[in-house]
This record gives sequence, structure tokens and C-alpha cells, in this order.
Amino acid sequence: MNVLTDDEIAFFKTNGYLILRGALDPEGCSRARDMLWASLPDGTRIRRDDPSTHVGPFADSDTNDDVQDLREGYRWQLRRVGTDSQLLDLVFCDRLVAAAEALLGAGTLRAPVVHGMPMGTQGAAWPGGPVDPALGTEGVRGIYCTLPYGEHRPDRLGCHTDGHPFNLGIVGLIGDVPPDGGAFQVWPGSHRRLYPTFLMQYDQPRIPYYDHLPSYKGILHTPEYEAELARVIEDTEPVDCCGEAGDVVLWHHRLAHAAGHNHTDVMRQAVLYDFTKTDLDDCRRDPPQDEMWRDWSEALRASEGTYPAAMDRTQRPALA
Ligand SMILES: [Fe+2]
Repeated sequence: MNVLTDDEIAFFKTNGYLILRGALDPEGCSRARDMLWASLPDGTRIRRDDPSTHVGPFADSDTNDDVQDLREGYRWQLRRVGTDSQLLDLVFCDRLVAAAEALLGAGTLRAPVVHGMPMGTQGAAWPGGPVDPALGTEGVRGIYCTLPYGEHRPDRLGCHTDGHPFNLGIVGLIGDVPPDGGAFQVWPGSHRRLYPTFLMQYDQPRIPYYDHLPSYKGILHTPEYEAELARVIEDTEPVDCCGEAGDVVLWHHRLAHAAGHNHTDVMRQAVLYDFTKTDLDDCRRDPPQDEMWRDWSEALRASEGTYPAAMDRTQRPALA
């Protein structure tokens, strides 16, 4: 079993993320890609065998606003397959479970439910809003793709933390993602700065949505959070977690991150999953702890967070 080294645990503790190369089964990645393309209805303009058709945005005729099979602009998010046994085998595999347990503690993980509810079964968090990844999701978030931007030049990339309770996120590449190709972007160290600014360790207060009072809704952030996130954006260079099919990023639930812009001609394809612990419901409303690693493995708590300088290169693939 390839459990994490002390250096990898230390890197994760200090930076809030860790890239594992080749962690996913290649055949499983290939099956996941097949699943993605098989989800298209007949007659779409985007075609698997013609990469020139992969450049976004989606044609109006290919657009679909069903949140379980979303194709809109440059985003393609296939959630319907999120509890397919092959996709769950790919992500909840021995190596990743061992890695997650090395960080969160052995025997603490909640298992996904084969043929259970995929993300989006209960619709969006509010009308026109995003889908809440914690709402009824019993498997992976889905297969998330970013189409090449072509001539599109978007605004500077912002970043955020996720608003739903979970312990450890993963983004697994099921296709090669070159630098600047829409890979997951992380702001190293932001988890330690943002964690204390929340009202609750894992959860967040929310403003309900009302049809007749539409101006305010969604997640409530503290002023301390907003100020610290602005400082993070100002002083921290994000890491572009590009790589090859099978590479995986593990990330802390309070890490600032973003879906990168895709300025290549290759569609970014990844599978996203949230590891949760069986005691999350008991812990989620606790305030941030003085010891922010209280709920993590003994090895992680004991780690001093120091690691060989060479890891700063291997863990920053776009610079390597
Ligand atoms: Fe996010």
C-alpha cells in the first residue's frame, strides 16, 4: 500500500494541498472519458474525434441547463454518473483511501454509495444558483470539464473556498492537462489563514433564498474572511495543478482554489470527490479550533510541516 511519506504529510500540512502522480488506474480514467462522451445526445456539434470542435463555448444547440448534465459556456459538468460503480472504484480506490486515511485517520471515512444519489438530484441550491455538493450527493461530484477558451480572454482569475461541509477534496485528472489548461488552481497556505476566519469549522451560515426578496442569498462570510481572502489573492501566487491522466490533487477543505482558465487547445477533464468522515456531523458546527488539526490523523498532527525544498518544485508542476 502506497501510504504517504512524512514529507508528503508535512507538505500538505503547510500548503493545504498535495499532488500525487499516477494515483488513478489508467483503465478507469479511460472508462471515465468514455462515460463522458457517451453522455452526449446524437447530433451534437462537439465530437470526440474532432478536437477542433472542443473549443468553447458550447454551441446553443449543444447547451444543456440540466444540472446533472450541464453544458454551458466553457463548462461541462456530468454529474448523473456520480455514483456509477466504475467511477466510484476509480476514486475510492485503495491508494486514495490510504492517502486520505493517512491525513484523516484510519477507519474514519464515509464510503460513497454505489448507485446512490448523484450530485444535483435535488436541483440547484437556489433558483439559478449553483448545486450544493453536499445536498444528497452520495458519490463523486461528477466529471468536470473546461473547454478550451479559443479567443476568449476572461478577467483575472479569482478564488474561493467551498461552502459545504467536507473534510478533504480531491481533483483527479482523467485526461492530460497541460500548463494553463484549466487545471485546478490552489493558493498554498491559504487554509491556515482562512480557517480561523470562519464561524464554524466545516459548515457556514446561509441566507435563505426568497422569490420576493431576491437581492441577498447564499453563503454568509465574515468580514475577517473577506479581508484575509483579499490579502491571499494579493500576496500568494496560485499553483496550477496541471499534469497527466491519473494525477490527483488532495486539498484541505478551507484552501482557496479556483477552476483555472483553459488557454490550451485540450479540453480539461477531471473527476471531483469530497472525502468526508463519519463524525463530520458531530464536528461541523464547532468553532475553529486553536489546534486546527484536531480532527486529523496523529501523523498529521505530529508533523512539523517541514519538507525538502525539492518538493516545492515537484509540487508546482507548471514551473517544473
Ligand atoms: Fe470550489
